[in-house]
Amino acid sequence: MLRSHTCGQLRSTDIDQQVTLCGWVDKSRDHGGTIFLDLRDRYGKTQVVVNPDGGAEALETAKKLRSEDVALITGLVSPRLEGKANAKLPTGDIEIRATEVRLLNRCKTPPFFPNQEELPGEDLRLKYRYIDLRRETMQQILVQRSQIIKSMRDYFADNDFIDVETPILGRSTPEGARDYLVPSRVHWGHFFALPQSPQLYKQILMVAGYDRYVQIARCFRDEDLRADRQPEFTQLDMEMSFVDADDVLNMIDGLMAKLANELLGIDLPTPLPRMTYDEAVRRYGSDAPDLRFGMEIVDCSDLAQRTAFRVFRGAVDAGGFVRGIKVERRAEEFSRKRIDELTEFMKNDFGAKGLAWFRVEADGSLWSPISKNVEPEVLDGFKAKFSTEPGDLILLLADTWEVTCKGLSGLRRQLGAELKLYDPKQMHFSWVTEFPMFDKDEEEDRCVAMHHPFTAPRPEDLDNLKDRPDACRAQAYDLVINGYEAGGGTIRIHDPQTQQTVFDLLGISEEMAEDRFGFLLDALRYGAPPHGGIALGIDRIVMLFAGLDNIRDCIAFPKTQRAMDLMTEAPGQVETKQLHELHIQVETPPTK
Ligand code: AMO
Ligand code: AMP
Repeated sequence: MLRSHTCGQLRSTDIDQQVTLCGWVDKSRDHGGTIFLDLRDRYGKTQVVVNPDGGAEALETAKKLRSEDVALITGLVSPRLEGKANAKLPTGDIEIRATEVRLLNRCKTPPFFPNQEELPGEDLRLKYRYIDLRRETMQQILVQRSQIIKSMRDYFADNDFIDVETPILGRSTPEGARDYLVPSRVHWGHFFALPQSPQLYKQILMVAGYDRYVQIARCFRDEDLRADRQPEFTQLDMEMSFVDADDVLNMIDGLMAKLANELLGIDLPTPLPRMTYDEAVRRYGSDAPDLRFGMEIVDCSDLAQRTAFRVFRGAVDAGGFVRGIKVERRAEEFSRKRIDELTEFMKNDFGAKGLAWFRVEADGSLWSPISKNVEPEVLDGFKAKFSTEPGDLILLLADTWEVTCKGLSGLRRQLGAELKLYDPKQMHFSWVTEFPMFDKDEEEDRCVAMHHPFTAPRPEDLDNLKDRPDACRAQAYDLVINGYEAGGGTIRIHDPQTQQTVFDLLGISEEMAEDRFGFLLDALRYGAPPHGGIALGIDRIVMLFAGLDNIRDCIAFPKTQRAMDLMTEAPGQVETKQLHELHIQVETPPTK
């Protein structure tokens, strides 16, 4: 090693030691012939003093050092002068009196500095990711990510799980997103698909008798990106045999308690709270509710039946609902302008037709531009339903079930953050269970699997499967942290008949099933044990533990919202020769 210590290591107990440090010049100041340098590496910063006592050569080199140059410094650990200690820095009691200063490498003037106060635009950060990753915050996040992954590996190893790698070049699996395809050179017109998850391989491992499997697995999904979605992301993927849903949940409860303890120093009581999907949607309008605060949805559809006010009455007459939430005691913070903005938010983002509201006056009465349209006894009904107090604000949507769910959930999320109804450092873990088996794909007007087609229905719903698929609930569960889906899994179907019934309902014919998943159906016929598992989104978990709101900051080399790597400029064009070898022709893009 060129160095004897790191830049974050030395303390006053090291005084009088001769040391060598290597790192980047964070800052350098010339105080009339004495140079003060802050030398930085990922462990911290150390102050270095270079003056004529250390020799002319050291001083000359030090004078030429610029920010972000790479340097080696040898010298004596010394106490800082009286009153010059820096309590904010772990190394703040000492400084190095340099006797040797060596420039290891120059840095061109960088497009931004890791220590600058104002963060540059994200595109610049991504293009020069090596500079961005020198920032202390980024280094802390990546260290935390590494700790989380280590804790996970240790936990599963301690519980007798074995780590098995599964192929990256495989067949398309049905997680519901578009696949990334890789053309085969050898097999003309054939393609591998990058795994959307190791789902089928891990089920096959269960059939093979590896009853506790775990993997830190890279997954690829070509879907519309959002702040919490990347085209390439990492899962903690696990599967167990001879278990029911409770066993899987308990196993993950233990993991979350360990992570919370090791990373946040908190004692997380387990079992984590559990709520069914139906209850989550009824009370919070979402299958991943943020439970750090209340503001539950109140259903007023029965009241709406008793009014002549067209907005409310019309919605319930059309089979819809009138549901709302209450902002407690803070109506005065909502100007007409703010309410208009929230109305636009509901219309633009959720397709709502409007947002009705009532303010609770000092005398307890409800006031709103629409209050004169609503009968007094119905207004009393609202007061009772919401248990109103003066200063409350009621916000209501009259619409289909879906729009009231999505809209009120979005409104609740927005208001929770805006009104600071929770401490941003607080974390809330819970489970949502018993998801519906099926969902409607609105665009294509067909039935799709809510999780994936290998999900087992609850035993009590098996009979419903064919006749009332809508009512059929699955042995499916999601881990929810602070309103984010942090993980999802299910107990799987392990008999080929039920599997074929589910394929039928999904419009996957026997031939199609045989063609795409024949190997799985076959495996289920060769002694498949009952099994189930889950995958946790590691990027999201790191994001939540680090208190961030986008996963790009939790990934060393992420893609942009447009699925590009700005540093390597991937995806890039390839040689025509390569395309020939792959038997691929590229269409000319349509002119704009
Ligand atoms: P699912 O599709 O729910 O389940 O994925 C599991 C978890 O992975 C995370 N996740 C993502 N993170 C970042 N970017 C993405 N594009 C992305 N997509 C998903 C989420 C999610 O909860 N094979 C099943 C698991 C199983 O049934 O065992 C699966 O992949 O946190
Ligand atoms: P309008 O008569 O359509 O202007 O609506 C009167 C008030 O009711 C306005 O404040 C609208 O925002 C609100 N409103 C209209 N439609 C709905 C709806 N479907 N749900 C909730 N509020 C609505």
